[in-house]
Formats: sequence, C-alpha cells, structure tokens
Amino acid sequence: MALVELETRKPEFTLITQNVDGLHELAGSKNVLKLHGDIWQVRCTQCGAAWVDRRPSLPEIPPHCLCGALARPGVVWFGEPLPKRIIGEATQAVKSSAILLVIGTSAVVYPAAGLIPLAKAHGRTVIEINPDETPCSDMADCSLHGPAGEILPCLVGSDSHRPKESDARSGARMKTFAEMSAPEITAMASWLRSKLQGRANPLVLSQLSDEELVRRYLRGKEEGINHGTRKQEER
Ligand SMILES: NC(=O)c1ccc[n+]([C@@H]2O[C@H](COP(=O)([O-])OP(=O)(O)OC[C@H]3O[C@@H](n4cnc5c(N)ncnc54)[C@H](O)[C@@H]3O)[C@@H](O)[C@H]2O)c1
Ligand SMILES: [Zn+2]
Repeated sequence: MALVELETRKPEFTLITQNVDGLHELAGSKNVLKLHGDIWQVRCTQCGAAWVDRRPSLPEIPPHCLCGALARPGVVWFGEPLPKRIIGEATQAVKSSAILLVIGTSAVVYPAAGLIPLAKAHGRTVIEINPDETPCSDMADCSLHGPAGEILPCLVGSDSHRPKESDARSGARMKTFAEMSAPEITAMASWLRSKLQGRANPLVLSQLSDEELVRRYLRGKEEGINHGTRKQEER
C-alpha cells in the first residue's frame, strides 16, 4: 500500500517488478512494468494474440487461441529473454529517476539486478530495503535492513509510525523510542535526514547517530505536545 501512496504523491514514480501475480495492480499501483510478465495473461504461441483470463482453473487444458494454436502463460520462462519493450522502459525509468528503491530482491537474477549498477552509473541514489545483506548492499547509498512492510511506510510516511503534525495537535500518542524496532528507528532517521537536508547544519547532522537523531526528535515532539496541553490548561 505504501507503494500505491508513493505513486499517488509522485505520479512520475515507476514500479518495476519481477512479480507475476498482479498483486501490485490489485493494491492500486498503476504505472507497473512487469519484467517477467503476468500469470493472468494467456498468450498464443503462434499468432502472438494475448488476453487476460482470471479463471482460477481453465476449462480447457491446454488452452487454445482462436487461431487454433496452443496458448501459454504470459510469463517469462527460465531461459527466455525479457520482453524488449518492458526492459527498455525499465532502463529508461531508472536512468531518468533520482532515486532507485530496491525492495525485496536477492539482486542476483539478471537483467533485473543489472538495473542497480545502471542507476549507480548514472549517478542515481540507490536505497535498498531488505532484511538481509545482498550484492546490492555494497552498491547502495543506503541499505535499510528490515521488512519492507515496516520500513517502506515509514519512508513514504503512510503509516502510524510516521510522525504527523495532526498527532501532536490531537494529542494522539506516538510510539516512544523504547517501543520502536531497529528498522523503524533507521527508517525514521532516514526520513528526518531527508527533511532536515538544507535546513540543519550538515556536519552536525552527519555526526548524529540514527538513535540520537530520533531520540532528539521525539523529545522535541513530546515537549511540543506538553507545551500545547499546558497552554490549553492555562486557558
Ligand atoms: N527472479 C525471477 O526470475 C522471478 C520471476 C518471477 C517472480 N519473481 C519474484 O520477484 C521477487 C524478487 O525476486 P528474486 O529472484 O530476487 O527473489 P529471491 O527469493 O531470490 O529474493 C527475495 C528477497 O526478498 C527478501 N525479503 C524477504 N522478506 C522480505 C521483506 N519482508 N521485506 C523485504 N525483503 C524481504 C529476502 O531477504 C531476499 O533477499 C520475488 O517475489 C520473486 O518471487 C522472481
Ligand atoms: Zn493465435
């Protein structure tokens, strides 16, 4: 869902996926490049006709095209090349984007994994989100180690973990430092650093650890909330 929100906020966002299950579209993503095709698509082996068939079991196995030839799943099988148009568009999207988020891939299957060095070669920022180290970790400008389901909403700011101004105003309770997981701290620190860029002394910022940065931010928030409450009480 965080990726859907990212696209809503940044319509130029392109989602490049190796998944063939169509779940990104089901969640609401629109601009999706499916490197390995789509399991819900059926394709003629002769005339190239392609159509969507969402029936969980096809009445006729193997399915046939109207032309009479055999049809096959519209995915890339092992050893087959990726669709030229899709990999071309993915390459273009990587080259023209400021940031490449590499999420949930072991980064070993090419040509998909090749998009990472491509981004670096074009001077783009690479941010990896993965619980484990991968070959991408060495190349990435920043590796956020943890589950994407936790880190991505913090980065995008679509989750309750994201500090919201409205929380402070309404007095809704934010997580305390002690309640936050390590990936949440890393993600919040990364969000804070991007927000503070150009607004805080870069030297001071670079010397602060993620933990200290988040602690200071939460302390400031807490004081702001208490201050607001006191003001209300005074009235
Ligand atoms: N490589 C292919 O040919 C191919 C084809 C079709 C579909 N896919 C799908 O594309 C995706 C990526 O492909 P792959 O070959 O890199 O898969 P992979 O199985 O080699 O790697 C999956 C990666 O996801 C990471 N991961 C696990 N849980 C995570 C989480 N909660 N948040 C973030 N990362 C997490 C793992 O640490 C691992 O590095 C997979 O979902 C795979 O099923 C791949
Ligand atoms: Zn046909």
